[in-house]
Order: sequence, then C-alpha cells, then structure tokens
Amino acid sequence: MELPFAESYKIKMVETIRRSTREERQQWIKEAKYNLFNLKSDQVFIDLITDSGTGAMSDKQWAAMMLGDESYAGARSYYTMKEAIKEILGFDYFLPTHQGRAAENVLFSTLIKEGDILPGNSHFDTTKGHIEFRKAVALDCTIDEASDTQLEIPFKGNVDPEKLEKVLQQYPAEKIPCVVLTVTNNTAGGQPVSMQNIRDVSALCRKYGVRLLVDSARFAENAYFIKTREAGYADKTIKEIVREMFSYADIMTMSSKKDAIVNMGGFVAFKEEALWQKAQMFCIMNEGFITYGGMSGRDMNALAQGLDEGTEFDYLETRIRQVAYLGSKLDEYGIAYQRPAGGHAIFVDAKKVLPNVPKEEFIAQTLGVELYLEAGIRGVEVGAILADRDPVTRENRYPALELFRLAIPRRAYTNNHMDVIAAALKNVYDRRDEITRGYRITKELPIMRHFTIELKKAER
Ligand code: F0G
Repeated sequence: MELPFAESYKIKMVETIRRSTREERQQWIKEAKYNLFNLKSDQVFIDLITDSGTGAMSDKQWAAMMLGDESYAGARSYYTMKEAIKEILGFDYFLPTHQGRAAENVLFSTLIKEGDILPGNSHFDTTKGHIEFRKAVALDCTIDEASDTQLEIPFKGNVDPEKLEKVLQQYPAEKIPCVVLTVTNNTAGGQPVSMQNIRDVSALCRKYGVRLLVDSARFAENAYFIKTREAGYADKTIKEIVREMFSYADIMTMSSKKDAIVNMGGFVAFKEEALWQKAQMFCIMNEGFITYGGMSGRDMNALAQGLDEGTEFDYLETRIRQVAYLGSKLDEYGIAYQRPAGGHAIFVDAKKVLPNVPKEEFIAQTLGVELYLEAGIRGVEVGAILADRDPVTRENRYPALELFRLAIPRRAYTNNHMDVIAAALKNVYDRRDEITRGYRITKELPIMRHFTIELKKAER
C-alpha cells in the first residue's frame, strides 16, 4: 500500500497544555469581556491566535543561540545573518529590527512623505498603519477573485496588473515610494502570489520607475506554492525559487517570526547601498546600532539558521500539508472557509457557519467565542470588529467577509490537534440554529480597537 505522509521531524522537547472544562471557560471568557486577546494563555488549550513567533525552534537553532556574539558593534552574529540574507535571499544590505513592523517603521520613515500612494495586494494591518500614520495612502490592487471564498484558484493572493497600472499611470513616480507586494497574502487568507505575477508587477514597477518592496513574512510558504502549483517550477528547489522571487525586488521587509521560525526578530533589506545608508539613521534612532538593530546576537544566529531550514522543501511540505489537512477535515464537515487552504491559516467563513447571528452583533467574533467555549481553542476575528468604525461617520464598518482565522504555529501542534479543532467547529456548526445572539460593545479605543475591546452578550 502507499505509505501515508508523516512529519519530517521528531520531537525533542515538549510544553504541557491543559484542557479545561466548559464551566471554567465560561467564567474565563466572561472575565475576558468576550475578547480572546484578554485570555491568559493558560486558559487556552490550542492557541491559533497567530503563527507569528509561536513556532518551535529546531535543535540547530537552539545550538546556534549558544554561539551568539553579543558585541555591540560588528558582532559575528551580524555577519552570520548577513551571509544568510545574501546567500538565501540575494540582498547585499540589511538592517536588523526587532520585528516586521519595526522594519516597516525604519523603511517608511526613510521613504514616505505626506500624500504618497503605495499600491499593493491587501497590505497587512501594521503596513497600512505605518502608511496611514504618515498621511499616505495604501491602495489595494488585489484581484477581485480573492473575495469569493468558495472560488478555488491557485494564486488567489495576486495583484491585478490592470488595477496596478492604472494607479501607476494616474500618479507621478515621485508620489509612489514603492509598490508593496505581500507574499503570501495574509489578509486574503494566506493565499500565494505566482512567480508570473511577481514578474508582471516588477515589470510594471520598472516601466514606471517605481521601486518594488516585497513584504516577505511568509515568502518561503509562497515559494512552496509556486513549486507545487506553477508550471515550470516543479523541478526547482525552494531556494532556487526564493532567489528568483527576490531577484525582482528592490527592497524586502521581513517579520522573521514567521518563515524564519524565530520567536522574535525581523529586518529590512536593500539592493541599493544609498537607500540602506539613508535608512541607517532611523534604525539607530528607533532600533539600535546598525549591526544589531533590534536584535540580540543569539537571535540573529537563530534567524540565520531558521532562514536556511525554513527554505527546505521537507519542512515546508510538513507545514503546509498540516494546514491543508485541517482544511480537508472541514470539507468533510461542510464548514466553509477561504479556499483553497492557505499557507499558514484557515480563514473560516463565519457568515456561512453562523447564519443566524446579525452582522451588528459581530458574527466572526461570536464564532470565536463559541469555538473557545467548545474546546478552549483561540483564533482571531477578521471581521467587523477589526474593520473598525468609519473615521468620519464613526459608524461601524461591516466588511463583505466575516472571517475567523485559525493560524497554525510552525512545528508546534500535531494532526491530533487539527482533528480536535475540526470537531469543535463541527459541533458549533451543528448548533447553528440555536446560536442567534452575538455581542455588543461596552468599551473600545478609537483605533486598533480589536486588541482591547470589551463586549457583552447581546440581549433581545
Ligand atoms: N507583514 C505581514 C504580512 C504580517 O502578517 C505581519 C504580522 C507583519 C508584516 C508585521 O510583522 O508582527 O513581526 O511586526 N502578522 C502577524 C499575524 C502579527 O498574526 O498575522 P510583526
């Protein structure tokens, strides 16, 4: 018989997690004001709030940490990281930062002025935040197909080149500091961008004299999808594909907490020496001296090792097949999610799972609370609470999609955990006729409200 698939690693160290009772969870979620961010991690059995910084480092990464050089200037660890970035990604210049948003801060402090336009594919929240904070505009040019959750296409994270070209025609190059290409496209469901699309976007950037920035948090997962889905790439190694992807980019920002499999760290890398030099000031002011930025030596060592491991096919296959496995269990139970399964997460289509909760009572959040009550699983709402209020009218904004993201940490959980997640979702789905009430806001901040929002059960 054909042998089944199995993980390409074995487990050397474990961390205990605890199942709780429904009564305990009812009490805890009430105390947390029905905001999953307010739960203590010990109150959670399976934590899918993010795949960022939550992965398990390898024996080799831990070994590399012991060899970290903590010198303030010119540390060996800096040169180890520099070599990995040059070798694996092809960039000559970089600045270490404490995480991805810090890389955005350093870069955008260097590049953006008020009134600028930054087109891209579904900019991530912090990217958009850093752009808007500088009174510039993040213009979304993602393909329309990305918002149809049931449509199954291989590269649902792509930029629509026509939409992008219109923007590039409409504004002068001086107003467009860069195009932001996010691989994979987190906001659209961890959906990949094809090599063809990267090439097309890069060609448009060249044509209009604009730089291409690749937001690279999940670049290796993107390369896996290119290898397995795009014609002409099946026989190339992940590392070859990664080199080609970045050959089209001028700049990259990296949240290393994802595809470099570390708990903390990031960087911004440049092809142009002059831009790197200009950015140094913002790194020194906000992060630290240019040879450590926001990182300690040991973390730079672990990052360099993680970049190498994270771009190996066997690791990526294990990782992405686990996400797909969860998707296949949900298919079995008829639970709708953004198709096909993404690289790092499943985005459950909450409107289809809980059809009887009114949108004014936050459908995806309601699903999140129900899933927590069911099995102690924590995910994150990507719906009306995250969409926040209209800045002018202060009315709640109701996005077309109410999604609930289940992000899978790297190398942390087994498929038994995936089975529990799917079964818990099925139980909630089976009770959908009884779940008719959602939540009302009792307290919120004027921006980024989802982190600290307080809710109570809606009464009718
Ligand atoms: N870009 C993308 C595409 C991201 O997904 C993230 C973070 C960042 C940039 C910022 O990086 O967190 O290191 O500062 N995403 C996490 C998530 C938080 O849960 O999706 P960071």
